[in-house]
Amino acid sequence: MLLALLWIIGFITCLRLLHKLVQFVWYHFFRPLPNLRKNFGNDKWAVITGGSDGIGKEFALELAKQGFNLVLLSRTESKLNDVKSEALERNPNIKTIIHPIDLGQSPLSIIDEISDLLDPLEIGVLVNNVGISIPACEFHLQKDNNNTLMSSLNIKIHLLMTKLVTRKWIKSNQQGYLINLSSSSGIVGSPWLSVYSGTKGWIDTWSRSLGSEFEQIQGAKKITVQSLQPSFVSTKMTGMRPSLFCPHPKVIPIDCFRQIKTHTSIAPYWIHALFNGFFRAFPQIGGWVMNKETKKLLIRVKRYQKRQLEKQKQLEKQNQEKI
Ligand SMILES: NC(=O)c1ccc[n+]([C@@H]2O[C@H](COP(=O)([O-])OP(=O)(O)OC[C@H]3O[C@@H](n4cnc5c(N)ncnc54)[C@H](OP(=O)(O)O)[C@@H]3O)[C@@H](O)[C@H]2O)c1
Repeated sequence: MLLALLWIIGFITCLRLLHKLVQFVWYHFFRPLPNLRKNFGNDKWAVITGGSDGIGKEFALELAKQGFNLVLLSRTESKLNDVKSEALERNPNIKTIIHPIDLGQSPLSIIDEISDLLDPLEIGVLVNNVGISIPACEFHLQKDNNNTLMSSLNIKIHLLMTKLVTRKWIKSNQQGYLINLSSSSGIVGSPWLSVYSGTKGWIDTWSRSLGSEFEQIQGAKKITVQSLQPSFVSTKMTGMRPSLFCPHPKVIPIDCFRQIKTHTSIAPYWIHALFNGFFRAFPQIGGWVMNKETKKLLIRVKRYQKRQLEKQKQLEKQNQEKI
């Protein structure tokens, strides 16, 4: 009797594991890209913060390919223009608006500007992508203005943008797709990058909470919320070359769209998803790995800063000698 029970439990566990494995392979490798225009409406706009570089740029290009008109927000006009040209090359039928703006300002000082920009548009997708990190550093030595800027760009601007856009969706009982960029460092936390990790953990918890709130609110049930938790991606932020563990940013939107409506919180790229799953199951090992990796980062940053300081001192000495 006991043996039979063990067999049944073992069999059910194997079935569940197999189901998870098949789901993983399907969503990461084989599921055809969904037609987002069909889901979120024709002639709609996609708004992307930090849409001039890295992951945001790739979201812009992929959404252009899918037929969305684009609103791109970031500071550098020339970079925005380059993305606009590339998007129009991929799909000449879309409309584009580029809006150079420093999103790190106090949200209250830019709310009218953004509201005036978005008000006349029928928005289908919002990608809250903008975000910054600072070089690894002990918290007590960090500059306050860096942390203030990080909390503005990684948190406050997401609140502002999301409110402006979802309010309209809810009012008109409209379908909408909200994508928020969290990070795997928000799962277990990274020492010496504590503020960055904290903001990314916040984004994930907020997105999951908002997703379940929308499921229960009249008018908001057609809103899809996704929080993305990639690990290292080859962009300016990391300065890393593409590799198996650190993909080119173009894989992020594609893998993200493939997994639409599966879970609120996902790691788009398959290796990152494996790592995140492992870190969730064994947080102590995850913490140990993060600790080791960020310590290496900290040592590299300290060495770099030391070299810079020495160079500066040498330069000052040479200048004094000249005088
Ligand atoms: N790369 C990774 O490994 C990784 C991993 C996990 C999560 N993420 C998250 O993914 C998001 C994008 O990261 P990324 O690696 O693609 O970064 P990135 O290559 O450095 O691009 C950042 C984008 O944000 C814009 N931006 C920066 N400061 C701004 C400001 N004050 N006002 C307006 N726009 C500003 C930049 O354009 P301008 O310079 O022209 O303003 C650029 O378009 C971030 O939220 C990041 O935390 C990244």
